[in-house]
Amino acid sequence: MTFTPRVFSGIKPSGDLHLGNYLGAIRRFVPLQDTHETIYCVVDMHAITVWQDPEDLKRWTYEIAAAYIAAGVDPKKSIIFNQSQVMEHAELGWIFNCVARVGWMSRMTQFKDKAGTNEGGENSEAVSLGLYAYPSLMAADILLYKATAVPVGEDQKQHLELTRDIAKKFNHDYKKQVKALGFKGDFFPVTETLATGPAVRVKSLKDGSKKMSKSDASDLSTIYMMDGADLIAKKIKRATTDADALPSEAAGLAGRLEAENLVGIYASLSNRSVDEVLGEFGGQGWGVFKPALADLAVAKLSPIADEMKRLVADRGELDTILRDGAERARVIAQPIMADVRNIVGFVR
Ligand code: TRP
Repeated sequence: MTFTPRVFSGIKPSGDLHLGNYLGAIRRFVPLQDTHETIYCVVDMHAITVWQDPEDLKRWTYEIAAAYIAAGVDPKKSIIFNQSQVMEHAELGWIFNCVARVGWMSRMTQFKDKAGTNEGGENSEAVSLGLYAYPSLMAADILLYKATAVPVGEDQKQHLELTRDIAKKFNHDYKKQVKALGFKGDFFPVTETLATGPAVRVKSLKDGSKKMSKSDASDLSTIYMMDGADLIAKKIKRATTDADALPSEAAGLAGRLEAENLVGIYASLSNRSVDEVLGEFGGQGWGVFKPALADLAVAKLSPIADEMKRLVADRGELDTILRDGAERARVIAQPIMADVRNIVGFVR
């Protein structure tokens, strides 16, 4: 029997999808379908750790599912579903709440950023309990399928470390029961961050030191997947830049954050290296580069936007895909969860 490693990844339906989500995550999910068993989730239970308007939550859930498909994730090859349709996520999440330690959670930088112990956060007393437990639900997402490969960005590394810590502690605490069930080694595997080519970190079009994000104050800083051609072109033309011409090689972008971002987007959209792009555009000014980037972005993104729009217009088709995906997810999750209940000592 050959062993195909299992991939799990998820995106939160908590805002309109933008270019950073596409280049940094969704697009990288596609080639993995040929080498791995792939499970791509819309993590709606994670989304409600902060308030979500229910109608928006639905709309964004469909939008992410549509984006997966429009970008080339094949619902026949991959399992595409939304988290809340497979209740085992919540069940294993609870058990992991009892494995993870309060101290571990308190050290999570993403929680501290959102909850106020770090600069810019809100009041930590007023955030939801779910936000605190967020990482143990994420560990459950992954380990419910014993997935070993998780394609995520740099900002999720700490969450994957915590996933490993939870797996280790569970394996250790329940060693006797795991052995008694007939398992030769550990029950939960070690999860690795899956590197998929050079990291693409798309920055705000207005400030090259900030991530492109849906919560940016400026409407022109973020390219949304559903933006029309004119709007994409306008945002790129108005993007902040410096006054210099483009350098001929990547080293010349050092310290020029906005230039680096735009060239990086061009390279990523055209599947070329930064050096190749600069080989073509080195010495040119923004008056040449920006229109070229706008044309490229429109050519690459419009077909995806069109397909997304077609898909979200008919929720029936997406409902069928998500329901089918949830069923196939359950086929993997249920036996693992049955073992977990047994191991923990839950009477059935
Ligand atoms: N925390 C992830 C993010 O914000 C989303 C997520 C939830 C996830 N569960 C996951 C990613 C499991 C990978 C695997 O991007």
